Amino acid sequence: MKAEIPVMTTAIIGTGVIGSVIARQLASGGETLRLSSADNESARTLAAKIGRAAVAVDNRDALQGADAVILALRFTVLKGVIDELADQLAGTLVVVPSNPVTADAQGNVSRVLPKGQSSGKVVAGWLPSGARLAMAFGTLPADLFESASNRSPEPAVLFYATDDDHAGEEVERLIRTAGFEPVKAGGLAQSGRLEVDGDLHGLVVGLAEARSLIDGA
Ligand SMILES: NC(=O)c1ccc[n+]([C@@H]2O[C@H](COP(=O)([O-])OP(=O)(O)OC[C@H]3O[C@@H](n4cnc5c(N)ncnc54)[C@H](OP(=O)(O)O)[C@@H]3O)[C@@H](O)[C@H]2O)c1
Repeated sequence: MKAEIPVMTTAIIGTGVIGSVIARQLASGGETLRLSSADNESARTLAAKIGRAAVAVDNRDALQGADAVILALRFTVLKGVIDELADQLAGTLVVVPSNPVTADAQGNVSRVLPKGQSSGKVVAGWLPSGARLAMAFGTLPADLFESASNRSPEPAVLFYATDDDHAGEEVERLIRTAGFEPVKAGGLAQSGRLEVDGDLHGLVVGLAEARSLIDGA
């Protein structure tokens, strides 16, 4: 008799540009999704497109029965949503793809944290104790994320950073489900390497090159 593969459920809060692409790739890898967004219209539209594997709910409902949550939010709204969900996050994998940047009306992008300050460490400080944080899924622009997933014959790498071994195992499963090969860049102190302007950002590489980039740093 074939062993049954358990269905895993991920909440994705934020169904904008990157949240939508992550949702589609996870759903095509077999993940069940609970989606939410600010006014819920984009979450409902996305859930309808994905079909049976996804439902649109509100932020707090998204966590119900979820094995993990991906906060696909702009860095500037992240803390507010974490505060809203704080009592639900203990014991949960929290995945953050956010780059700590903002853009002005002219589209000029600037970092919202002081130079050298690790965004991963800042987000970890906002989380309640017991939440397991991995910075991941924010290293590739959405179009590249979509085109590089399920690459054959050699899968493309997605880098992540965490201080927590259990979070590492969990985020590796999600990265594989989305069609990539996971590679740990380091602890949260190294999350700057994953960001816009970081040396590992925007790279579509295989495992050997990814490892040499990590080892060579
Ligand atoms: N875009 C990319 O290619 C890319 C690539 C890598 C990493 N990132 C990072 O990913 C993050 C998101 O970027 P994005 O381009 O996807 O932004 P975006 O298109 O503006 O999407 C942001 C999403 O957040 C939702 N949201 C805002 N406030 C919320 C709240 N209080 N509760 C629930 N949902 C809320 C919005 O809801 P509505 O839909 O209802 O407005 C929207 O779905 C950023 O930090 C960015 O640095 C982006």
